[in-house]
Amino acid sequence: MIKSNYVKIFDTTLRDGEQSPGATMTSAEKLEVARSLARMGVDVIEAGFPAASPDDLEAVRRIALEVGRPTPDDPEAEVPVITGLARANKSDIDKAWQAVQEAARPRIHTFIATSPIHMKYKLKMDPEDVIQRVSEMVGYARSLCADVEFSPEDAGRSEPEFLYVVLGEAIKAGATTLNIPDTVGYTTPDEFFALIEGIIRNTPGMHEGITISVHCHDDLGMATANTLAGIRAGARQAEVTINGIGERAGNTSLEEVVMTLKTRKPIFGLETGIQTPQIARVSKLVSNYTGIVVQPNKAIVGANAFAHEAGIHQDGMLKHQTTYEIMRPEDVGVNQSKLVLGKHSGRHALRSRLAEMGHSLDENELDKAFARFKELADRKKVITDLDLEAVIADEFYRPRDVYYLDGLQVTCGTIGMPTATVRLKGPDGKVHVQAAMGSGPVDAAYKAIDAIVKMPNTLLEFNIHAITEGIDALGEVTVRIQGENGLHTMDAQSELVYQRVFGGHGADTDIVVASTKAYLNALNKLIIAQTEGLEPAHANHTHGVMLG
Ligand code: KIV
Ligand code: ZN
Repeated sequence: MIKSNYVKIFDTTLRDGEQSPGATMTSAEKLEVARSLARMGVDVIEAGFPAASPDDLEAVRRIALEVGRPTPDDPEAEVPVITGLARANKSDIDKAWQAVQEAARPRIHTFIATSPIHMKYKLKMDPEDVIQRVSEMVGYARSLCADVEFSPEDAGRSEPEFLYVVLGEAIKAGATTLNIPDTVGYTTPDEFFALIEGIIRNTPGMHEGITISVHCHDDLGMATANTLAGIRAGARQAEVTINGIGERAGNTSLEEVVMTLKTRKPIFGLETGIQTPQIARVSKLVSNYTGIVVQPNKAIVGANAFAHEAGIHQDGMLKHQTTYEIMRPEDVGVNQSKLVLGKHSGRHALRSRLAEMGHSLDENELDKAFARFKELADRKKVITDLDLEAVIADEFYRPRDVYYLDGLQVTCGTIGMPTATVRLKGPDGKVHVQAAMGSGPVDAAYKAIDAIVKMPNTLLEFNIHAITEGIDALGEVTVRIQGENGLHTMDAQSELVYQRVFGGHGADTDIVVASTKAYLNALNKLIIAQTEGLEPAHANHTHGVMLG
């Protein structure tokens, strides 16, 4: 088999990532993530699991229409393949096809488990019946769509000889990509290398037109190592998620695979189509939308990945950057130390800096960003790229406001009870004012909001951190809440139905304001989803992001 030196990046942030409990994104947010993935050069976007619910199907359909087709002003533009996941049954495959068929390059991705454990306990099917199902359902998918991917779920714990038979049937029935998942993150790199090598060598009917793909989970912390081992063995598609989000310990992260192939090119000799300077921004976008915070020491995108605090490292860095840095921060879009703008910078300077960072705002959006910038410049001496990203995220990457924070005052400290007075503008334009006491100022503010909004929910997570250094730093807050009624979705593999969780994000130099905004942001998503489904009519963020 001739192996090309190009590795396709298949991003499943919107399916395996979003589907994991607690990472719900609204349809508008999914669209924005899909746009960013396409701009970054992802080859295949797995946009969701259409059979999970009508909302999920509709979200995939919108991505197929709006991201999976060239725009009229650039009809020749290359667009990514858009795929939807389907269990190996006709109803799921029909729904996946319904969702992706409008894309210029649609794909159906169907799967069934092949490990003894899954066949016996989950599917309650004999191996022979699984083989027959693969043949029938891959064939059915192929009768609808020319591009079909097949995955033998839990391949990492399947018998290799059985896999060869199943995969051979999938090829015979018309699959063009064979994806090998280590579903439970069980294998080691050597084992996974041998598995992929064995599949390429022994699967009947294997030919050059078939792409072998790898899909690894991180339960033992080896997802990236296994993915790279699979690539060395001949796989030419890697299935990944942004920030490695996904079931349990997560999936292989896009940034780790892509930056390893780039940084260690002499070893691998392979390429991807990813515009790596966009990695940091997309990472931030996904974190803000899901409310899932990136751990500070996370490779490539963690806040400390390019920070050199230890004196010895700083000394080395000053002598030569390569002493402790194997990648340049700008190669992944991290320009932490760049001091950009101050109080006297004008609109033009802001517009140019935002454009350099990849944000192209229309006049109206620029007005809003400029007002936020001036407000911030009154409170903070120098404004860095990170501050600007936070302002943009806060201003534009949030859902349409149902309730809008119009004013907040708190008293707190050691004397008396922490109290907050909140003024919100409601959906009907009505102004609501409410005071409440709490265990601290944030708790008091949340209680006041709850008394106005009356949307029962549980606060699952609250995170706060300073975006830059210094006493005047912007505080950034992310929260995750779960509504108390309805809004379920289904996991494609476990078939478990669970309550959706909504993330919220807020940034301000005042941390109580940032906390209040973050909570309101999450509540607005919950309210929209409860009242209109996950398909809110219009999001707040309509601005474009330019190619970097
Ligand atoms: O982990 C897994 O097995 C999957 C498949 C559905 C590809 O996500
Ligand atoms: Zn998976």
